[in-house]
Amino acid sequence: MTSASQLKELAADIAREAGELARLRRSAGFALAATKSTLADIVTEADREVEALIRARLDAERPGDGFLGEESGGGDGTTGVTWVVDPIDGTVNYAYGLPAYCVSIAAVEGGADPNSWRPLAAAVYAPVLGELFTAGRGEGAWLDDARLAVTSETPAGGLLATGFGYDPSTHDGDLLTVRQVMPLARDLRRGGSAALDLSYVAAGRLDGYFERGLSPWDFAAGSLLVTEAGGIVTRLDTASARPMLIAAGAPLHARITGVLDKEI
Ligand code: IPD
Repeated sequence: MTSASQLKELAADIAREAGELARLRRSAGFALAATKSTLADIVTEADREVEALIRARLDAERPGDGFLGEESGGGDGTTGVTWVVDPIDGTVNYAYGLPAYCVSIAAVEGGADPNSWRPLAAAVYAPVLGELFTAGRGEGAWLDDARLAVTSETPAGGLLATGFGYDPSTHDGDLLTVRQVMPLARDLRRGGSAALDLSYVAAGRLDGYFERGLSPWDFAAGSLLVTEAGGIVTRLDTASARPMLIAAGAPLHARITGVLDKEI
């Protein structure tokens, strides 16, 4: 069995290479490949190319592992390790030339279902910002060589981030959630990349993050970063189509959970 540390090194190496490919493709010219479920749910040629690179490297270096990717789906492996990959998290930012996008790669055990997996290793690389966030289970979370820790809550409230689903019919519920949580916030951000939002919670740049309806590849790596930085990540309403992910240090996490209407 490979150690979490070795899986982390591999994830970091591939994330760097994949991120550089995404950045080069963006500066060479942007190609929108398709819209998916809605106008906001887009995929670029780069998303597909970057995922193909990640998958090929994992196939070569870890044959037998499972794979779940945003663009190409995947399948179970035979080793007990599954890679959960978002080739470009923050695709709308990417398409518009905003820097807040990243490659997100996680190794988990227990299969590709977030209700039962256990994250082992994670790498989130933001190529324009030049930042690499990594974590290995039991080994802490890191930004390059600096160890990360979530913030403890400030009396005036936290700097929080959220995101909105791509399906317009979900926006009323998302806005109601924001109204419920705002009294706990110093201010609110919508960064456009769940993996980076979670990395920033781990780094103490945000106090907390909440969003409904994320896909496994959006939060697999970022969740390990937060827990290894001393924070808590939970998913509420996992039986619903849009579970609510909440990530923060323990006191703020409890307060966010306490104000939410679980039925939205
Ligand atoms: C999206 C981003 C966004 C979040 C969406 C995700 P994508 O991922 O993480 O911040 O609000 O829910 O789907 O589509 O850019 O990979």
